Amino acid sequence: MVASSESHATDAGVDILRAGGNAVDAAVAVGFALAVTHPFAGNIGGGGFMLIRLASGETAFVDYREEAPGRASHNMYLDAQGNPIKDESVVGALASGVPGTVAGLALAEQRYGKLGLARVMAPAIHLAADGFAVSYALAQDLHSESIKLGKFDASRHIFLRDGNYYQAGEIFKQPELARTLQEIADHGPDAFYRGPIAHEIAASMEKNHGLIDLGDLAAYQAKIREPLVGHFRGYTIVSAPPPSSGGVGLVEMLNILEPLDLGAPDAYASMHLIIEAQRRAYADRAQFLGDADFVTVPVASLTSKDYAVKLREELLAAKPDAPVRAGNPAPAENGNTTHYSVVDADGNAVSNTYTLNGGYGSGLTIEGAGFLMNDEMDDFASKPGSPNMFGLIQGEANSIAPRKRPLSSMTPTIVLEDPKAASDGAPAAGSGGPQLRLVLGSPGGGTIINTVLEVLLNVTAFHLKVQQAVDAPRFHDQWMPDKIFIEPGISEDTAARLRDAGYTLQRVGGIGDCEAIAVDSQTGWRFGASDPRGDGKAAGY
Ligand code: DON
Repeated sequence: MVASSESHATDAGVDILRAGGNAVDAAVAVGFALAVTHPFAGNIGGGGFMLIRLASGETAFVDYREEAPGRASHNMYLDAQGNPIKDESVVGALASGVPGTVAGLALAEQRYGKLGLARVMAPAIHLAADGFAVSYALAQDLHSESIKLGKFDASRHIFLRDGNYYQAGEIFKQPELARTLQEIADHGPDAFYRGPIAHEIAASMEKNHGLIDLGDLAAYQAKIREPLVGHFRGYTIVSAPPPSSGGVGLVEMLNILEPLDLGAPDAYASMHLIIEAQRRAYADRAQFLGDADFVTVPVASLTSKDYAVKLREELLAAKPDAPVRAGNPAPAENGNTTHYSVVDADGNAVSNTYTLNGGYGSGLTIEGAGFLMNDEMDDFASKPGSPNMFGLIQGEANSIAPRKRPLSSMTPTIVLEDPKAASDGAPAAGSGGPQLRLVLGSPGGGTIINTVLEVLLNVTAFHLKVQQAVDAPRFHDQWMPDKIFIEPGISEDTAARLRDAGYTLQRVGGIGDCEAIAVDSQTGWRFGASDPRGDGKAAGY
């Protein structure tokens, strides 16, 4: 089963599974295919995270997040008065970090795939060379980003057809991108980081006053990290460690909520408790989270059950909406992104979220190579304490430094059901190890962690089927700004009670695009759920 936010990419993944590929083969195929069919967020000029859980129980987290170039500096986006210069970290070459996607997908394929890079890239090369029918959503998106894309010659030519905009149903071919992908398939990631593509990136950067040079590209490495692991009501939560804030935030919130009676979804009582957990976790995110290779992040304390006890006591004693500050853990130590999930016949699972950051990234296409570059530098705190494009306040832990990775909210997650304990608490005989239950993630900038939390709670605490869990209306509180964003589906009754309790509410169109797969505990059937907020598809065979 494959669930992704674009149908050709889902089909590419299913084809690879049918051809005998495992979940990692399919995931790499989907990643390259989205770079062709979903240029809004799919990419080879960006970065992300791939969480892998094999049927054997082995887990791995491939960190292919972008990196600040070697010539980046703490105040590079500030003017002489120390204020952020509008759009410097968002549009154009200076906004880009060193892309990690090619390194990350190639590393995953080499370590865990069966079919090899050339085979799993074949569907993407075909889609780029021979083209695919533009969907209504893509035609609309391209048009709506015409101002940013129109600033750069290659972007205007490829994505806007020099003003003769693509209409739904027309065939979109990308010959330059096809050549670039073929080069990678033939010569491996070195083609991108040291070979001809590296030279094209460096040339576009120089021409457009960017900082990424050949040395930065040659130095880039995807890293295999230990996933972050938490426990919630008999489930093991496997999620994203730093440089994502996702796993820490998710586990911190689940720990706070674990013993509380959450009642029903979309009810004042449950929403109030979940929102108060969200505010506390996002306040801690702002204070403590950053690239743990550069700063000390108190991961163990923030995700400890003891710390959750303290936060829960505070939360239950406080008036709803009382001010929240970052905690003091005991020292122990619809922009755009896209998520997809894969589970193969053997039970291997992949949860992958990757991004250009804003829709179409920085807007800059590498000349001759046909792919868009990211604007991930905006995920750093350009000025600690000032909000970024998602309104997220972040601290010195996430300030800019050469070769540092910006803090992310991407939260690719896998949920396992622990073996049922016998009455004496010991695992029941013959129960085996933890069983795969749910694979999920979402785009949505700062809202991602809360989307994953809410879908996960809908399945594990509210016992909804996975499609209902994905469909259910969402809400989002990120501590600052001090308000709750709610989707239209939240009932007016519940909204009124939240307002009466003192919260400020703002209705928004839609939050996230969760592409999830659940595995039924009795039958082992895989249930794919594609988010109705997006234009995706879940398919299997
Ligand atoms: O890594 C992050 O947290 C952001 N760059 C993600 C951006 C995103 O999800 C935009 N999508 N709506």
